[in-house]
Amino acid sequence: MKKKTSYLDYQFTDSAEFVSTFDELPLWSASFGLLLLKHLELKPNLTVLDIGSGAGFPLLELAERLGPSCRCIGIDPWAHANNRAQQKITNYDVDNAEIITASAAELPFEDGSIDLIVSNLGINNFENPAAVFKECTRVLKSGGKLALTTNLYGHWKEFYNIFYTILETLNRPDLLAAVKADEAHRGTAAAISAMLAEGGLQPSRIFEESFDMKFLDGTAFLNHYFVKLGWLSSWFAIIPETDRIAVFTALEQNLNEYAGKHGVLCLSVPMAFIEGQKA
Ligand SMILES: C[S@@+](CC[C@H](N)C(=O)[O-])C[C@H]1O[C@@H](n2cnc3c(N)ncnc32)[C@H](O)[C@@H]1O
Repeated sequence: MKKKTSYLDYQFTDSAEFVSTFDELPLWSASFGLLLLKHLELKPNLTVLDIGSGAGFPLLELAERLGPSCRCIGIDPWAHANNRAQQKITNYDVDNAEIITASAAELPFEDGSIDLIVSNLGINNFENPAAVFKECTRVLKSGGKLALTTNLYGHWKEFYNIFYTILETLNRPDLLAAVKADEAHRGTAAAISAMLAEGGLQPSRIFEESFDMKFLDGTAFLNHYFVKLGWLSSWFAIIPETDRIAVFTALEQNLNEYAGKHGVLCLSVPMAFIEGQKA
């Protein structure tokens, strides 16, 4: 690992390569990350895991906020995202963070070796969250904690209600049931706490908040790069190709009408910070 340069010797050197890592994280992740950082207990000498660290958030921010007495390790199976996070570690001269390309369902750590595990928006992306929680319990020290943030059931309810109306109007109860099941895979805070408890972690603190995302209309919403990246493929997996144009044309039109009536398309996002502790 490269030795960190003292801030007293810091000099900014402009380069394309540095600026390629300059922008931070999607605003979507930032809202959840702020909730995580608001409630997380910072202590010295921690070994911290960030599961689902993606392009380096909150891994790098935590490493920097905790400082040199703590070691922060990001775990994610996504190699391209890990490369970007690694580039940030190098460019930001962070010497207490590292990345491991692995799944949190099989953590490459000894039993009882980790003080704190965090995960910002990981749980909805883990194929088997129950297996991940069990594995987290295994590697945590006694008294160690897992703190996660996630969007909850009810997120973007204004959008989903319009989606449901379209599928009812098109007389597609099969698709309606499938979209409802997809929406429901974001749990409630109580269901996620129960999952933590089943995995062996006693729920210790829960904080719920919500925020709004405003779009000018449905056209802007459906074309937003992050909506395409994070959601469109799951909707496409439900709506067969033969129905896609009819469903999405009607959806976009109804979202635009809703936005016209309300002045804007405002979507609410309930979220939670949920913490569990190993006995
Ligand atoms: C929504 S992204 C969140 C990324 C980042 N924490 C953030 O706040 O922007 C979810 C991340 O979970 C990762 N992921 C999916 N399955 C995983 C697993 N089994 N173990 C660890 N990470 C996983 C994905 O590769 C992705 O980077």
